[in-house]
Amino acid sequence: MRIWMIGAGYVGLTSGTCLANMGHQVCCYDISAARIAQLERFDIPIYEPGLETAMREAVDAGKLRFSSLLKGGGIMDADAVFIAVGTPSGRDGSIDLSQVMTAAQQIAPHLKRGALVIIKSTVVVGTARRVRELIARERGAFDIRVASNPEFLREGSALKDFLSPDRIVIGADDARARNALRAIYRPFEKTGVPVVTTTTGNAELIKYAANAFLALKIGFVNDVANLCEMAGGDIGDVMHGIGLDGRIGRSFLMPGPGFGGSCFPKDTRAFAATGRQFGAPQKLIETLIDRNEQRKVLLARRILKEAKLVSGSRIAVLGLAFKANTDDVRESAALTLVPILQQAGMQVAVHDPRAASNARRYVSDVKWASNPYDACNGAAAAVILTEWDDYRRLDMARLARSLSGKTLFDYRNLFDPRSVTRYGLRYVSLGRPAAIVHQRAGVSSLDSWDRRVAAPGHA
Ligand code: UGA
Repeated sequence: MRIWMIGAGYVGLTSGTCLANMGHQVCCYDISAARIAQLERFDIPIYEPGLETAMREAVDAGKLRFSSLLKGGGIMDADAVFIAVGTPSGRDGSIDLSQVMTAAQQIAPHLKRGALVIIKSTVVVGTARRVRELIARERGAFDIRVASNPEFLREGSALKDFLSPDRIVIGADDARARNALRAIYRPFEKTGVPVVTTTTGNAELIKYAANAFLALKIGFVNDVANLCEMAGGDIGDVMHGIGLDGRIGRSFLMPGPGFGGSCFPKDTRAFAATGRQFGAPQKLIETLIDRNEQRKVLLARRILKEAKLVSGSRIAVLGLAFKANTDDVRESAALTLVPILQQAGMQVAVHDPRAASNARRYVSDVKWASNPYDACNGAAAAVILTEWDDYRRLDMARLARSLSGKTLFDYRNLFDPRSVTRYGLRYVSLGRPAAIVHQRAGVSSLDSWDRRVAAPGHA
């Protein structure tokens, strides 16, 4: 099929590349001529493992090209046009659909009769129908079909997620649109991937409900981790024990410094806003949003309290990306923690294997370290915020030598506590109280911090 992808951002590029490697003839369009020129040189503006190789393969096979022109690029020959532009948060948490609507308006006059427009961007319920009406107004006829096909790609594993999906959601309000969209994904159906065929409205709701539910899982784990700290439990064992229940599942049960990224924070806000708009308040999600933001602040304060830092102390922050294997820092824990540490008078040194250049837009007055040991050099404490493999492989003896203080805060639970405490470091992780850490390390009595966390009122 001849497919166009409107928006050569993260979703458009990864989806367009994968569709091309499935055998479709794909053109990725972006309004920015500079971005298209960059892509033609394989200078890819995002870090996504495997993307460059996959793009080169598709281009070499003559299946993928790029264009910043609609008519000039030949969009009138397209059988299907995906809209994969941004849907940023508005002030009240609802999403701003202007990029989707503008894209629809711009492509409308150029489409061939009977073409299929597919919304890939994450949009609120009712958007596909609005887009269909807008295109019909522009063309003076309802001769273009509009479908909804939400994506479930995770940054860092997007190609794998595209090629081995848990399911494909086909949202269409008529048989022709449904059949045309199914035809694009036919190779997957043959391999037994479940295909959910439903209305456009349901498809739009599925996307938000999926992200809201996954975010709830993380919020729940983080709250249970707090309880483990107070009650002397171990979050790893507790989550292993509940995850084996097939109804709960084992994934997405890792405690962390609060979820971030371009999707969960924005999508939970939009889901809550949609609930308010339709008079069906999503109180669980509203609470989750608050808890998640509070968590980032409380974990920053915990560093100041537990490491007994004095003004002017240096703190090493390891990890600026919102999770590993991406250079994306949007709504990452670091963006909340670093300013709080700075406001408390701390000198902050930061390191990230991939995300430092993106973080420069948001973080200032820090020391930019080229490796984690350099960041820790002379620091009173270090905090790990991203679960990069580089940090899992840290030489703990070297790290302990670099630090002038002795506390390592691991907000991703990367280590067995003993592998840290044996180097004389105090190890503060999530949902694993220091009391247990010290017992395992051969010290049985509670120290003052352990008594404090055991005291009522500790958040
Ligand atoms: C998320 C969804 O997982 C995708 O299915 C969806 O397609 C995508 O949003 C989207 O809507 O475009 P992504 O934002 O790339 O993908 O990242 P996730 O891997 O879901 O992680 C989100 C946040 O949750 C990160 O901050 C991560 O560190 C945190 N997390 C995740 C945890 O704290 N614990 C976990 O067990 C899992």
